[in-house]
Amino acid sequence: MANSTSGDSVTDRLVRVLETFTPTRTVQTTAEIGRRAGLPSSSAHRIVGELVEAGLLERDDQRRVRIGMRLWELATRSSHALRLRQVALPFMERVQARVREHTQLAILEQDEALFLERLSDADSGANITRVAGRLPLHASSSGLVLLSYADRDLQERVLSAPLQRLTDATLVAPTDVRRKLSEIRLVGYAVAPGYIETVSTGVAVPVREGSGVVIAALSVVLPRGTAPESALPELRHAAAGIENALVRHR
Ligand code: PHB
Repeated sequence: MANSTSGDSVTDRLVRVLETFTPTRTVQTTAEIGRRAGLPSSSAHRIVGELVEAGLLERDDQRRVRIGMRLWELATRSSHALRLRQVALPFMERVQARVREHTQLAILEQDEALFLERLSDADSGANITRVAGRLPLHASSSGLVLLSYADRDLQERVLSAPLQRLTDATLVAPTDVRRKLSEIRLVGYAVAPGYIETVSTGVAVPVREGSGVVIAALSVVLPRGTAPESALPELRHAAAGIENALVRHR
């Protein structure tokens, strides 16, 4: 339904407003939202005002705007990801307690790895992952696991787009990524040394549902020099635990 002079729909504009918020940009002025969403100032003020009224956005005491708890509540409550996260959490806690490094759970979402949970110690090392944040599929251990078990169309789509180089170690040639994906399918886990940040190595294993389809990746982020073998048995054990619990809680 096109009902603005620019021809975009109400829904388009709402989505554009909401998408100006990111894991690292959580508070903005209405003027910034309007500029980032490509909206005229009057539309930005009206839409933001309506969303604040509905509780989907909130204002702080300086009238800056952030995502409202009502939106979090609605989105979290009805999400299928919530069940997976809840089932996985005790197993993730065990990995985190034993390996004592960042432990995270990701799913495939719109050609990226979307992180549902991350557990860290106060003294865990570097980690750029955020809960509800995304990482590129070709450049993270979780992403590579999800990509290696994804359907051919998705793999081809991702490999035919330019692959961003994030560090000297990131695989950016499609042939190198393809080789890595077959290796992951062969050994059943992914190691990504320095692919996304030079100081860390990601190690990820697949999590399957009853039918055998891979639905998530469970990973740890280790300091770069640490041997992945130190975390693999715990990761595998936890993935198997999550898989059994998913079957039981169906
Ligand atoms: C990875 O999964 O490869 C990964 C994720 C976050 C980091 C480092 C590595 O900070």
